[in-house]
Amino acid sequence: MNKLLGLSRNFSNSSSFNAIKTVTVVGGGLMGSGIAQVAAQAGQNVNLIDLKPELLEKAQKSIQNNLHRVARKIHKDAPAKIEVYVKDASERIKVSTNLEDGVNADLIVEAIVEKLDVKQELFNKLDQLCPEHTILASNTSSISINEIGAGIKRKNKFGGLHFFNPVPVMRLLEVIKSEQMSEETYQAMMEWGKSVGKTCITCKDTPGFVVNRLLGPYSAEALRMYERGDASKEDIDIGMKLGASYPMGPLELADYTGLDTNKFVLSVLYEKTGDPVFRPIPLLDKMVAEGKLGIKTGEGFYKYKK
Ligand code: NAI
Repeated sequence: MNKLLGLSRNFSNSSSFNAIKTVTVVGGGLMGSGIAQVAAQAGQNVNLIDLKPELLEKAQKSIQNNLHRVARKIHKDAPAKIEVYVKDASERIKVSTNLEDGVNADLIVEAIVEKLDVKQELFNKLDQLCPEHTILASNTSSISINEIGAGIKRKNKFGGLHFFNPVPVMRLLEVIKSEQMSEETYQAMMEWGKSVGKTCITCKDTPGFVVNRLLGPYSAEALRMYERGDASKEDIDIGMKLGASYPMGPLELADYTGLDTNKFVLSVLYEKTGDPVFRPIPLLDKMVAEGKLGIKTGEGFYKYKK
């Protein structure tokens, strides 16, 4: 194991749930690094697996920065404790490019590329390599959980754990019930979600689960409203912030999420449900083709300083 950050076996008292003590996160990108961070903050031992050492270093840097931010908030009156907090949490995360270093875990959360065949291959491998008790979960936002787990034997110990970006900040976790998930696995996932500070909701394996299924039509109609010229982008956003108490307007939210992600989510929902509310939006296609993806490219509906 590449012990860049070492390992500590101290568990904090913040979590009353002791069944899941060791978590492996496969995929150390945007989501995986956040999932690893919240598990380490909760006192759990974490293995973080990715394909290349430089990707893991990037993940470690981002986790360190985020942990500092969290520590500064928690210990604002005791600066001496900040470094201790960051060290303790980061030392619980071991990183490796070798999947086998992560197989001895109570729970494995997959957060790799959003491709069915790649996810299936990973889960089939994990199913063979992991001890019998290990629970396997996918963080997919658009692929069917049952399809991802189609080839595994432990279907009773498999489901979805759908986090939201940025993971350390967003308080929700959707626990997705696969067709053959056992009650014991479901309870363990719910308890684990709570232990990492999330409020858990449960959903069947349906397209978009709860949040994206509801956000899709709202976001699509906001885009069409702007495309039709019914109102300015500013007024659409102000309307939903002041009239519906949403923290962000729909076009600001699209810029934040990324217009490419927005287009992808709508296209998957359209493909899976056939509901015309999710049909392609020419304005969105044009903006994505022009590279106007929102905050990450410096321009979407609004302009941003890079
Ligand atoms: P990302 O591209 O930031 O990270 C994916 C990471 O997985 C990369 O570092 C890549 O090197 C690694 N990876 C790819 N194949 C691998 C393999 N076979 N073994 C080990 N590591 C591998 O992607 P992101 O945004 O973190 O998304 C990951 C998953 O989370 C996807 O399934 C996505 O749909 C889902 N998701 C994404 C959200 C978002 O807002 N970005 C929100 C909720 C879920």
